Amino acid sequence: MAQIIALYSVKGGVGKTASVVNLAALSALQGRKVLLWDLDPQGAASWYLQAEPASAPKIGQLLKAKSVALGLRPSQHRNLSVLPSDQRYHAMEHVLAEKKDAGFRIAKVLDGLADDFDEIWIDTPPGLTLLGDNVLRAADLVLVPLVPTHLSERTWFQLKTHLGNEKIKPGKLAAFLTMVDRRRALHRDFYTEKKIEIPELLPHEIPYAAIIEQMGDDQNPTVFAHAKHPAAQAYFQLWQAIDQTMKQR
Ligand SMILES: Nc1ncnc2c1ncn2[C@@H]1O[C@H](COP(=O)(O)OP(=O)(O)OP(=O)(O)O)[C@@H](O)[C@H]1O
Ligand SMILES: [Mg+2]
Repeated sequence: MAQIIALYSVKGGVGKTASVVNLAALSALQGRKVLLWDLDPQGAASWYLQAEPASAPKIGQLLKAKSVALGLRPSQHRNLSVLPSDQRYHAMEHVLAEKKDAGFRIAKVLDGLADDFDEIWIDTPPGLTLLGDNVLRAADLVLVPLVPTHLSERTWFQLKTHLGNEKIKPGKLAAFLTMVDRRRALHRDFYTEKKIEIPELLPHEIPYAAIIEQMGDDQNPTVFAHAKHPAAQAYFQLWQAIDQTMKQR
């Protein structure tokens, strides 16, 4: 059975997609059979991995365990498949809402994929949504990128409250800092000052690095295109920590 790892945050633009692409790529590089399911209708992860479909399955097909695999696409990389998104999937929230099992549908659909992969990484749109709740329930590990700012921190606590309200196990959350600019005191001191308040915060951080923004230039994960760059090395260290966390579960 595949382990399910989701990148999730209430706040947008915090590095979910950049992180899921690089972390899933690192798992594939280790020889794991990996699927990246792009559940964000922006389709950025699908685009980064050059896996945008000519014609994507309809939402109805995507939301059934027996037909979800119809949408699978290979990436350019060994061991890494993609279940791409499509702009039309913005309607998924409404389609889900009409299902009897609206809050658990994605978990059920994942059953149709779990035997074929070692790991399934999920990219999500930002916000507290029904789709988000589905992912929060289905995932074994929910990784939350935090930019070291007050607003990002605030949304972390909103997420924790939300999990409590929805009765979703909080133990599956882990956070990491991203877009860290060590020239700024707020960024430099964030981990030390917040590690007690946010015990789920991993001590590994991703720096602010233009090379990550440039991933769109060649649509190739940074960890492949610039493996020796400090930002790629930071992703590798984060990946190792996540891998350890998963083994302890
Ligand atoms: N470590 C980083 N250093 C510099 N730029 C970064 C870094 N991580 C991500 N970015 C850039 O920041 C922007 C937002 O990143 P990304 O799309 O990964 O965030 P997101 O959380 O997935 O956003 P959304 O909520 O819209 O899905 C992108 O332009 C991306 O290239
Ligand atoms: Mg994104």
